[in-house]
Amino acid sequence: MAVGIFDSGLGGLTVLDAVSKRLPDLPLVYLGDNAHTPYGVRDAADITELTKAGVARLFAAGCDLVILACNTASAAALRKMQEEGMPEGKRVLGVFVPLIEALTERQWGDNSPPREVAVKHVALFATPATVSSRAFQRELAFRAVGVDVEAQACGGVVDAIEEGDMILAEALVRSHVDALKRKMPNPEAAILGCTHYPLLEEVFRDALGEGVAVYSQPNLVADSLADYLERHPDKLGQGAGTQFLTTGDPKKVAQRATMFLRRQIAFDPA
Ligand code: DGL
Repeated sequence: MAVGIFDSGLGGLTVLDAVSKRLPDLPLVYLGDNAHTPYGVRDAADITELTKAGVARLFAAGCDLVILACNTASAAALRKMQEEGMPEGKRVLGVFVPLIEALTERQWGDNSPPREVAVKHVALFATPATVSSRAFQRELAFRAVGVDVEAQACGGVVDAIEEGDMILAEALVRSHVDALKRKMPNPEAAILGCTHYPLLEEVFRDALGEGVAVYSQPNLVADSLADYLERHPDKLGQGAGTQFLTTGDPKKVAQRATMFLRRQIAFDPA
C-alpha cells in the first residue's frame, strides 16, 4: 500500500530521493529492473514487456499508483499500456509531462492549444530508445510551437552508471555534450531526459557552460506528484516507510544505491 516508483535500474532513485524529501510521510515501493538494464538499447516491444512486468509487480505489492521514473519506459510503453487499460483503481504516470510543462511554463492540466514559448533552441539528452521514439517532441508539439529540438542519444552512460564507473560516465557525458554542440552550438535549454543523468548533473552543467538552463526531472516530478496526490488522495496508500526491490543482485544494487544517495539502502529481491 504505497506509491510505486519504477526504473530500469538505479536512475529512478534520483526521483525517489526528491519525492521522499518533498513528501516525507509518503510510503513508497521502489523497483529497479537491474537484471534487464539498460532499456535504452532495446526495442519498443521488449521495453513494453519489461515495463508491464515491473508495473504488475508494483501493483502486486499494493501500489495503486505507479510512477514510471524511466523516460525510456515512459516513451516506449506508457501510451500502449494506457490504451490497453489498467486494472480497476490502478494508475500509471510517466515523467515527460512535468518536464515539458516546466519548459513550456504551463500549469498542470493546461490543455490550451500550443503556443509560442520563450525557449527556441532545446537540447535533449536521452537514451537511444527515447531519442528514436520522438516521444519528447510529440509531447512538446501539443504545448508549444516553433521550438527547435536537437536530440543527442547518450549511448553508454546508463551502463557506466549501473557499473558504478563514474569516470567513464563523466567522459561519455562530455563527449555527448560536445557532439550536441556541434549540431546546435547555442542551446538555450538542455533537458536531462533520463533519470540516471541527474547523478551527473554537475558534469552536464559544466560541459554545457553558463547561459544554458538545465531541466532535471527529480524535483519537477516530485512537485507534480504532490499536486496529483492532493487531487487524488485515494492513491496515497497506507503503508509505512520505503521498500526497495530489484530484479538484480540485491547486494550489488544496494551498494551502488548507497553510494549514489549517500545513505544506507537495503534491497530485497523482487
Ligand atoms: N533511467 C532510464 C531513463 O530514464 C534509463 C533507461 C535505460 O535503462 O537505458 O531513460
